[in-house]
Amino acid sequence: MKRLIYIPVFLLTNLAIQAQPTIIAHRGSSYVAPENTVAAANLAWEQNADAVECDIYLSKDNRVVVMHDGTTKRTTGETYKPSETNSDVLRTLDAGSWKDPKYKGEKIPFLEELIATVPKGKKMVIEIKCGPEVFPALQKVVKKSGKQKQMIFIAFNWETIVKAKELFPKNACYWLSSSKPAVQEKMGEIVKNKLDGINLAYSIVDQETVSKAKELGFDVLSWTIDDPAEAKRLVALGVKAITTNRPDLMISTLK
Ligand code: G3P
Ligand code: CA
Repeated sequence: MKRLIYIPVFLLTNLAIQAQPTIIAHRGSSYVAPENTVAAANLAWEQNADAVECDIYLSKDNRVVVMHDGTTKRTTGETYKPSETNSDVLRTLDAGSWKDPKYKGEKIPFLEELIATVPKGKKMVIEIKCGPEVFPALQKVVKKSGKQKQMIFIAFNWETIVKAKELFPKNACYWLSSSKPAVQEKMGEIVKNKLDGINLAYSIVDQETVSKAKELGFDVLSWTIDDPAEAKRLVALGVKAITTNRPDLMISTLK
């Protein structure tokens, strides 16, 4: 006679909530290595991160370059705006020494160089920091890489992320926000525009938001978390990903 095994509903719910989060290395493993460099990406892979996040701009000569700020000042000591500067000039800058002399000579990467580091089974999260002028070059770089399936796109600008989803319909695209009222207002629009979810500043992630997203059928990701206790709170709420400067610490804490 077959026996039915009874699994209490609360246990199933709990198992679902405690699913392993994706660990995204924020600007690479940037607690140790200089952010948004090949060295930071490679360190993240060595530490077994699931994904590396990076920020992109378009240079004056239409190359997709990886950097966070609107100018090169903070990470190279010299001031250039990517949109007004040819990539050969940007590439002469030292984007490593500010972090540690041992990283002297790290360059501002071309996006293709960073994508080249992505191992099989891992992802790259590309944050579009500039305007829609980047899309033609971005499409070319991503297609040429042969790793399009491994790419994920994020942006704070609403029109930019909607456009990204239009151009890359098979790739996951998440809207970034640090404002709870803005998120509440956009919940329905996320679904209408076929976005895959929202990627939120950890401080605004709460049960109400995660439950609403679940009800509507999309994911909540989070950034930037280096505190294990905060990471555990977010995982218990059911976020899909933890973006961190310290993937090694988060992996040892959560996995
Ligand atoms: O991953 C999202 C996060 O990177 C957004 O903030 O300023 O670090 O680009 P920011
Ligand atoms: Ca970013």
